Amino acid sequence: MRITIVGAGFVGLTTGVCFADKGHKIYCVDMDKDKIAKISSGVPPFFEKGMESLLKKHIHKDLTATTDLKEAIKNSNVTFITVGTPFDGKQIDLSYVKAAAREIGSALKEVKDYHLVVVKSTVTPGTTDEVVLPILEEASGKTAGKDFGVGMNPEFLREGEAVDDFLNPDRIVIGGMDAKSREILEGLYQGFKSIDVMRVDNKTAEMIKYTSNSLLATMISFSNEIANLCSVIEGVDVVDVLGGVHLDKRLSPIMPTGERVHPSFITYLESGCGFGGSCFPKDVKALVNFGENRGVRMEILEKVIAVNNNQPFQMIALLTKHFPNIQGLKISVLGIAFKPGTDDIRESPSIPIINELSAKGAAIKVFDPIVQAESNETFKDLNNISQAETLEDALTDVDAVLLITRWKEFEKIPELLRCMKTHPLIIDGRRMLKKSEISKYMGIGLNQIYSSS
Ligand code: UDX
Ligand code: UDX
Repeated sequence: MRITIVGAGFVGLTTGVCFADKGHKIYCVDMDKDKIAKISSGVPPFFEKGMESLLKKHIHKDLTATTDLKEAIKNSNVTFITVGTPFDGKQIDLSYVKAAAREIGSALKEVKDYHLVVVKSTVTPGTTDEVVLPILEEASGKTAGKDFGVGMNPEFLREGEAVDDFLNPDRIVIGGMDAKSREILEGLYQGFKSIDVMRVDNKTAEMIKYTSNSLLATMISFSNEIANLCSVIEGVDVVDVLGGVHLDKRLSPIMPTGERVHPSFITYLESGCGFGGSCFPKDVKALVNFGENRGVRMEILEKVIAVNNNQPFQMIALLTKHFPNIQGLKISVLGIAFKPGTDDIRESPSIPIINELSAKGAAIKVFDPIVQAESNETFKDLNNISQAETLEDALTDVDAVLLITRWKEFEKIPELLRCMKTHPLIIDGRRMLKKSEISKYMGIGLNQIYSSS
């Protein structure tokens, strides 16, 4: 098939390179000329494992990056919308989706053959049928269901694992306004290994995506709420508590061989300093607002956000338990990215933590294996912040270290500390280190400073 993808962001470009790898001919369209120039030269505009090699393999062969949407659509049979759907502070901002639909509709005027338009961006239920479809009809002067079809195909891509998640999906949700739209959309996934395919209407497809993200975000906030309670119960560590909960055979099944299976979702039932990223925060808020507009109060999801907004400040609370006055303290922040494996810092817990430390007068060193804080717009107005060149540097000559992102590199901390004369207090925001291996340790969901010496 020949496919146009409108919006060459994280989701769009991943979709493009992966479909190209499955034998489709792809046009990746973006209005950002610099982004298109970069992609055309074989360089992804963001860090994503496996992306660069796939891009280099397909660019100028099965994948063309262009700003010319009309020409791309003329040459293809299917168009995906993968532009961003941010939260505007009150509700989902559909302006990019609407703009993309208008442009696609106007391009469809000049297309003779039947064309399928698929929304892949995360949009609230009803958007594809009630917003995108009418715009396409109006801008093209054509009729949906006759001249073109409309589908909805949510993405379930974790940043850092997006290429692998796309090529080895756990499910494929095929939403469509009619059987023909669904059939064409499903045909695109023929080269994928056999997996559960759900054929649904567009609204159900939209709702599946929101519900999936809301469930995972709820598990995280639930675990964090339990952690915050544990942190005021002397002698109780949330790692032991949740570890015991995970052993429920309904969560970690025991096979007939006696072997226990630890499903990967269990990590969402671990505590930490909060979730971030381009999806969970905005999607949960958008669903709460969507419910509100329909007279349904989403009380659990409201609290999921409230707990998460507060969670980064638990790190500051742990710090002030040991150092009541932060003014003048030397603090290292480990990890800026919202999660390991990405250079994305959108909604990262590191942002409120660094801002708070800065406001309270700490001298902050930051270290992230990929993200450079100094050159980052988000932190440009802070003056007491410097970049550590190495992890070792970040651990040296500081009073405390706040570990924010679960980068694998940070597993080396106990080993590095062993070679140092003086040890900072380590506050583990991901509970990824063994407390017995650190001389002065605090962590989310742990009541006291733990001293191994
Ligand atoms: C995606 C989704 O599409 C979003 O709905 C989902 O919930 C999260 O992931 P993402 O890939 O992160 O968004 O978006 P972003 O990195 O903002 O990229 C969107 C791209 O679309 C940008 O490069 C932007 O320049 C482009 N764009 C936007 C267009 O080309 N045309 C437009 O009209 C609007
Ligand atoms: C998520 C969904 O997982 C994906 O299916 C969807 O399509 C897009 O949104 P992503 O935001 O990339 O993907 O990452 P994910 O790995 O789910 O992590 C989201 C946030 O939750 C991160 O801030 C991460 O640190 C946090 N998280 C994740 C935890 O706190 N604990 C975990 O066990 C996993």
